Amino acid sequence: MNSYRIASIPGDGIGVDVTVEARKVLDRAAELHGFGLDWTEFDWSCERFTKTGKMMPGDGIEQLSAFDGILLGAVGFPGVPDHISLWGLLIPVRRAFSQYVNLRPVRLLPGTTSALAGRTAEELEMVIVRENSEGEYSEIGGRHNSGQPSEFVLQESVFTRVGVERIIRYAFELARTRTGRVCSATKSNGLIHSMPFWDEIFAEIAVEFPDVHSEQCHVDALAARMVQAPDRLDVVVGSNLFGDILSDLAAAVTGGLGMAPSGNINPSGDFPSMFEAVHGSAPDIAGQGIANPVAQILAGAMLLDHLGETVAAQAINATVEKVLAGGTELTPDLGGTGTTARLGSAVADSLS
Ligand code: NAI
Ligand code: MG
Repeated sequence: MNSYRIASIPGDGIGVDVTVEARKVLDRAAELHGFGLDWTEFDWSCERFTKTGKMMPGDGIEQLSAFDGILLGAVGFPGVPDHISLWGLLIPVRRAFSQYVNLRPVRLLPGTTSALAGRTAEELEMVIVRENSEGEYSEIGGRHNSGQPSEFVLQESVFTRVGVERIIRYAFELARTRTGRVCSATKSNGLIHSMPFWDEIFAEIAVEFPDVHSEQCHVDALAARMVQAPDRLDVVVGSNLFGDILSDLAAAVTGGLGMAPSGNINPSGDFPSMFEAVHGSAPDIAGQGIANPVAQILAGAMLLDHLGETVAAQAINATVEKVLAGGTELTPDLGGTGTTARLGSAVADSLS
């Protein structure tokens, strides 16, 4: 029997609530599909930061490197600045493990309605491939002349040929397994160094994939298109910042943030990949037991898929659809009166 070592980092706020439900569903899937999941839980969080001054211990990365996969809830809580939670945990893990792909599939699930009037599930199915290791999210820069009238900041972006080529190639390969369409987010009219470089590499790689329909679109126009004509989009590839923004938009026009999973993926398998919901720790509803666990459950399915347990992953996806279509345990964000635990249990109990 295959058995996998999984690190669970529930984190803060609703990250904790939804991770409990995802584990419930994954454990049931393992039982039904004949593999083992050996969980180790880590308390790395803002709560830990307030007690120890660190989001994770100094050897945190080393500890995680022994695992086959990581399931992360969400980090961030009022009182701890967001750049601390992000740069103290998430970004170091993504970078140390070379998780250069941030994959964010979104689709309109049954029983839910799009924020866009009249759109059907067939029209709303896309995947955002976000560059996850460089780009606009860089530590290079600084704040100068603090407090002076001449105060200024510099925030540099870093785009490497290796980094841009590998993410764009990943998007083209993914498009081949889907509808064969890929759209690149650019802004070469405003960002005159980084984005022309990105576009040039996109055009070079497009030549290697004559069977894939490729186009590029300025990110502002692409945002509008995602709302006005989402049916024309399938794989969307973007830099770290553009991909981040577009994936929240894509999630919002489909089922909302409570439904959108993501994977921080190291395609080579040299290091563990990390799966999480797109949403954050939602302090506004934390501790109330009403967070929608679907995004985290679907993130768990992506984790199983990545481990090669594709049948179990598909079973989870199908069961989530069935339970949502049934409409009895929907959480308040979906217009229901259900709870996090009841929706999670409904999925686990209906799994086959
Ligand atoms: P958020 O995603 O936590 O919440 C945005 C809104 O969506 C809130 O009204 C929330 O109640 C709602 N929402 C989110 N997930 C939901 C769910 N599963 N069910 C029902 N409603 C849901 O984003 P926000 O408020 O910008 O950030 C809150 C904290 O989370 C911040 O500290 C932020 O830094 C952190 N964060 C962490 C992320 C991560 O760990 N990867 C990602 C995004 C934000
Ligand atoms: Mg985001």
